[in-house]
Amino acid sequence: MAEGQKADGVASIAMATDEDNQVVNPWEVSAKDGGKIDYDKLIEKFGCQRLDQSLVNRVERLTSRPAHVFLRRGVFFAHRDLNEILDVYERGQKFYLYTGRGPSSEALHLGHLVPFMFTKYLQDAFKVPLVIQLTDDEKCMWKNLSVEESRRLARENAKDIIACGFDISRTFIFSDFDYVGGAFYQNMVRVAKCVTFNKVVGIFGFTHEDNIGKISFPPVQAVPSFPSSFPHLFAGNDNLRCLIPCAIDQDPYFRMTRDVAPRIGYQKPALIESSFFPALQGETGKMSASDPNSAIYVTDTPKVIKNKVNRYAFSGGQDSIENHRKYGANLEVDIPVKYLGFFLEDDEELEHIKKEYGAGRLLTGEVKKRLIEVLSEIVERHQKARASVTDEMVDAFMAVRPLPHMFS
Ligand code: TYM
Ligand code: TRP
Repeated sequence: MAEGQKADGVASIAMATDEDNQVVNPWEVSAKDGGKIDYDKLIEKFGCQRLDQSLVNRVERLTSRPAHVFLRRGVFFAHRDLNEILDVYERGQKFYLYTGRGPSSEALHLGHLVPFMFTKYLQDAFKVPLVIQLTDDEKCMWKNLSVEESRRLARENAKDIIACGFDISRTFIFSDFDYVGGAFYQNMVRVAKCVTFNKVVGIFGFTHEDNIGKISFPPVQAVPSFPSSFPHLFAGNDNLRCLIPCAIDQDPYFRMTRDVAPRIGYQKPALIESSFFPALQGETGKMSASDPNSAIYVTDTPKVIKNKVNRYAFSGGQDSIENHRKYGANLEVDIPVKYLGFFLEDDEELEHIKKEYGAGRLLTGEVKKRLIEVLSEIVERHQKARASVTDEMVDAFMAVRPLPHMFS
């Protein structure tokens, strides 16, 4: 890859498709004909850095706790300037976390839980404030939802997010429809002035047929990266650094943000980026709300989970028991093993399953049975937590208020 393309700069970063027809952007994730997403290629193309073992060790050392499974097992595999955030933290200063959700569906699926579970771990481990953006405006424009429906979905989704266990004394959740204005809007205009139409076309692939709302949206997702967008939280703290946990499909927004930041006198946000929780059908795409059979929702019952896993989860097992005993399962393509890698916390049990299944001593049905238990437990726990989230709690998390103990 040519020098210029490695830079953080925006102009050089072509859109979605590369030579191999792999598409990864905020709206589409797909590998070329039935293949797997090539994450090494993404790192090179987007110009981010690989999150290596030494960084994981450093996080463990600084937080005095074991790394989250998602970190240990490489689910979060790429970053931008995470080392700088850790430098800041090591010097005794703090930073803040920013993540978000586009409320396009009633219920979240397991893939959506990945960044939120991980963000909760980061908040607990570093004891830092967190802002969560609900881009109801974005989904209204992209998904052709009415304003009213998008706002309703944002509140519903906020309940699922709160159910992940965020600490209310350190967390501000906001919806764009409610919060955009004031200092936040001033930053949006600062950003917008720096981005030409050609540039957003290059980054996001907009066409002449897209409505102008879509074209003008990227600054809305950009500016929560800047502390001055939240005067009730960070007034007088303009140099506070920001760390964004998200899946790598959101990278285009933040390449743009990082390109603009120094030009308007702001710090670039740092990023910690995950791979995708794959669709039941296999690793060619992400689990997506737009295909119900590809996804396990946090609202699914144990029975539905069991049926979906047994029916749709792509198996690397052989087609007959004899062949399976003889050749073993192909773990590279096996979805039950992939899913266990995300959600089965016990390292030893996971290794045991991989070894026995790979050698053909365990059958697909047995591995799926274990997966069904693990997923049902997570989903049931989530449902319990969500049922206890009241409207008052949503209002409390979304209130524009100072958080006096957010760093302690
Ligand atoms: P949304 O709602 O599409 O997704 C929310 C978050 O979930 C991640 N994600 C996944 N992670 C792992 N596996 C999957 N299958 C999967 N599907 C989705 C997304 O990357 C995202 O982190 N425009 C954004 C909202 C947003 C935002 C942000 C996200 C605004 N500001 C800052 C991250 C950081 C959206 O619609 O996300
Ligand atoms: N744009 C994201 C989507 O379409 C939602 C989002 C908004 C987000 N702010 C974020 C995701 C910050 C991660 C981090 O799904």
